[in-house]
Amino acid sequence: MDERTIQKLIEEAVKVLPNSYAPYSGIHVASAIVTDKGNIYRGVNVENSSYGLTICAERSAISAMVTAGERKPLAVAVVTDAEHPIPPCGACRQVIAEFNEEAEIIMYSVKSGERIIVNLRELLPSPFKLRG
Ligand code: THU
Repeated sequence: MDERTIQKLIEEAVKVLPNSYAPYSGIHVASAIVTDKGNIYRGVNVENSSYGLTICAERSAISAMVTAGERKPLAVAVVTDAEHPIPPCGACRQVIAEFNEEAEIIMYSVKSGERIIVNLRELLPSPFKLRG
């Protein structure tokens, strides 16, 4: 992924970070996805008083992408206000892998300014699959 797109994805996620609903953990997360068509979709974490119902930012963003009729995320940014960048949780790895097992994952902390980029293959080498 080119540097300009990486910066753009981080910026787009930072813009919606204040919309994150995280009254229980206090960890705000926003995600921005760029697709093969060059469009960007965003999402934030949405917590619930019944904790297990929490939706992660990445899965919110994937839902926005699919709702818009798209199927191929090339890169997924995960931006947080936690001390350090956070990687997608296991469930989010599997959900991203459904659409692209080789998506680039860009992690960024607005607090530390640290940025980490890895390929989803490194985070989830063997996703569950029913087809192919
Ligand atoms: N969270 C995400 O949004 N994405 C992840 O991949 C990991 C965790 C959120 C869920 C919860 O609202 C907060 O971070 C703390 O777990």
